[in-house]
Amino acid sequence: ENAAYQAEFDAKVDAGGFIEAKDWMPEAYRKTLIRQISQHAHSEIVGMLPEGNWISRAPSLKRKAILLAKVQDEGGHGLYLYAAAETLGVSRDELMEALHSRRAKYSSIFNYPTLNWADVGVIGWLVDGAAIMNQIPLCKCSYGPYARAMIRVCKEESFHQRQGYDLLLTMMRGTPEQQEMVQDAVNRWWWPSIMMFGPHDKDSVHTDSARWGIKRISNDDLRQKFVDATVKQAEVLGVTLPDPELKWNAERGHYDFGAIDWEEFWNVVNGHGQCNVDRLAERVQAWEDGAWVREAALAHAEKQAAREQA
Ligand code: 3HC
Repeated sequence: ENAAYQAEFDAKVDAGGFIEAKDWMPEAYRKTLIRQISQHAHSEIVGMLPEGNWISRAPSLKRKAILLAKVQDEGGHGLYLYAAAETLGVSRDELMEALHSRRAKYSSIFNYPTLNWADVGVIGWLVDGAAIMNQIPLCKCSYGPYARAMIRVCKEESFHQRQGYDLLLTMMRGTPEQQEMVQDAVNRWWWPSIMMFGPHDKDSVHTDSARWGIKRISNDDLRQKFVDATVKQAEVLGVTLPDPELKWNAERGHYDFGAIDWEEFWNVVNGHGQCNVDRLAERVQAWEDGAWVREAALAHAEKQAAREQA
């Protein structure tokens, strides 16, 4: 009987169709989606911390309002993604416990410090730029709830990327000190941003993701796409990217770039980056501080339900 279900599942995925929450699916498909979607959600929520640090320090009311809106969006992205993960039969409490106990991951990029205002612009330009590259193909992911969550996320991400680039253009038209701040931030964020796309394809362990229509473009191909698109933007901005081996390869039709420091990557992924301890402590603290709100909401919902039944 499973064979018939498996054949129907394969046919739907191979035809580029959507698998919905109530459809039969292989257990391994469900598990890898819970893994990826929940870690994507964790990344959005933890990602609010580095930038949130600068909301009260923004240089103008306009910039404060823009940053506030962006960080709020990230919270919303986390909510859609947790909700998408819950359609696979896992509870929010389980997902949060996995993050707080470090059994679940979140994107390495959010373990770097935001040292000054230029970092806010570079995060918008490079980190959200990389996120867009990675999230556009996910709009065609085979799991319906995940793909649909990505549609709105991608629209909001393009605002995130533009506001970052606009912030940097403004600073690059400013004083030499401001230009140096931007270049310094680019030097600190460039390599961690291209690490966001994950290990080389040969080291990428979840090979099923491609077969099941979850990962539409491989880690290395997406990384290359990001580098090719970003080099021009850096030229317009007037900054140099910190990679002496970065140069156009006419034969390949792509930019060649230097070797990634995978020791740094795995060091950060495994919890030993500059900010891992602080980021997780802040999330655990927020979860504990919010316990009374969750309890009150549950108590209120139970009273409502009891009243309706009476
Ligand atoms: N940071 C932390 N862990 C990473 C990572 C990164 N940058 N890249 C890969 N990994 C982990 C994977 O999760 C996997 O570990 P796991 O089995 O415990 O989950 C391991 O390294 C091996 O990597 P694989 O390539 O085999 O794993 P995937 O096939 O899952 O590919 C991925 C990794 C491309 C990140 C994929 O999971 C994905 O597309 N995820 C959804 C998008 C996402 O999470 N983006 C992160 C940033 S979100 C963001 O930027 C928000 C924006 O608003 C700023």
